Amino acid sequence: MPDTRPRRTFAVISHPDAGKSTLTEALALHARVINEAGAVHGKGDRRATVSDWMAMEKARGISITSAALQFVYRDHVINLVDTPGHSDFSEDTYRVLSAVDSAVMLVDAGKGLEPQTLKLFRVCALRGIPVITVINKWDRPGLSALELMDLIQAKINLRPTPLTWPVGEAGDFRGVVDRRTDEFIKYTRTAGGATIAPERRMGADDVDPDDLDVWKMAFEEHELLGLDGADHDQERFLSGETTPVMFASALQNFGVGQLLDLLLDLAPAPHATEGVSGAVREVDDEFSAFVFKVQSGMNTAHRDRLAYARIVSGSFERGMVVTHAATKKPFATKFAQAVFGRDTTSVETAEPGDIIGFVNAQALRVGDTVYVGDEIAYPPVPSFAPEHFVSASASDIGRYKQFRRGIEQLDQEGVVQVLRSDLRGDQSPVLAAVGPMQFEVVEDRMTNEFNSPIRFTRLDYQVARRTDADGARSLAGMRGVEVLQRSDGTHMALFVDQWRAKVTARDNPDVMLEELPAGGAA
Ligand code: G4P
Repeated sequence: MPDTRPRRTFAVISHPDAGKSTLTEALALHARVINEAGAVHGKGDRRATVSDWMAMEKARGISITSAALQFVYRDHVINLVDTPGHSDFSEDTYRVLSAVDSAVMLVDAGKGLEPQTLKLFRVCALRGIPVITVINKWDRPGLSALELMDLIQAKINLRPTPLTWPVGEAGDFRGVVDRRTDEFIKYTRTAGGATIAPERRMGADDVDPDDLDVWKMAFEEHELLGLDGADHDQERFLSGETTPVMFASALQNFGVGQLLDLLLDLAPAPHATEGVSGAVREVDDEFSAFVFKVQSGMNTAHRDRLAYARIVSGSFERGMVVTHAATKKPFATKFAQAVFGRDTTSVETAEPGDIIGFVNAQALRVGDTVYVGDEIAYPPVPSFAPEHFVSASASDIGRYKQFRRGIEQLDQEGVVQVLRSDLRGDQSPVLAAVGPMQFEVVEDRMTNEFNSPIRFTRLDYQVARRTDADGARSLAGMRGVEVLQRSDGTHMALFVDQWRAKVTARDNPDVMLEELPAGGAA
């Protein structure tokens, strides 16, 4: 039987260490996790089920894989799409954001708005994704709640509309004012935060004498916020003018239930989506989905390749034959899986908002659409401006075939962008990355997975702009610029620095030199 309960599909975005893994675990604890195995990844021994498919990932304690955690809460199915923690993999994060309907921005109360949070927020704004803000680590000393509200307003130009307000300053977290009911939600600690923290709701008259002073202060601030127009407004939230704010301690499971309630009550459900031709698919139309991530090598025992797709419309049933929009070829979905960390389970049915993994679908690339019925293709997943460039070649020339196969595979997965030109030839393509750690992934996988150790030569470019075939001809031979082509056909002009790019654009007004969205690692 298909599970047609309403869906909420979201991602948590944050600067590394803000508590994303801890919050993910706390959310899963609060809800009934549908598929438990390997569901949560994170750091430390406490989380034994880390996504350690790659030795490097393990050594650094960072999560490179993207997966979705699915669970049921209040008769809704929640899809939490994971994003990599390290800013060098922000390109992956951007792709994930094309697959969600809302984002939870996690802010460390002690640190305020950090660079990666700001960048990710900008991507949400660009894509029109409503953002819920969670101020985390309220159990530790940090900035004041009002200071944090000012920061959100000043740095990201979003009007914060707190739905809860902390009782007790940062470091003395007693509970929150539920700003919609004026009640006090009092939290009680559990040992190590390992179980759901009990909470008691009460009216002002029932507040314990011990809490009375801090409660009064919090309540006054809550009333002032109301007078200041900082109350939630659903329309303004959905149009990206405001962000509902909550206070939490993921480590102690405080505020986690409120976040889940908020996601159900306020976050948008999967909705109709427009294709590039202008055709629109309603959620209950025939099946369609788009690929937002391709990944292989998750299981070294058998070389699998997974294309993660977000379902846009219609029900999915395993075995269903779909059309691949890019090639118009039919494609049998015999092997579709639900994907959690490194573990996969076969999926029989799935609904709009769900994430499924197609196994060994060699033809599927990031951004591809698959559908049933009338033709539809969803807009491409945007790519961001690379800022790091190397030329790559096989260390062992006898392994050129393996080298080629590996580079092609990593290109399809979007691990790096691969740029080629006649001048450089196929033996030493240019690899372009948003963050330099992407090159380490290439190095590791080329050696261990494709059996072709690789050599990099750093190139002195810092800036990439998009041009076209005419532009490529005009720019050929100019000083300080090189034009190469991406495998999707896009011409990229590489410049040594911003200044050279600007001067070239100024002196050649007829040449297309389009800026790509900036996404560079801090
Ligand atoms: P990330 O995925 O965003 O990178 O962050 P992660 O959850 O790994 O959390 C980073 C650190 O912050 C961890 O400490 C974690 O325990 C701590 N943390 C997360 N949420 C809270 C919170 O609400 N309150 C407090 N006080 N700490 C929190 P660590 O020492 O780096 O790792 P661990 O050994 O404790 O796992």
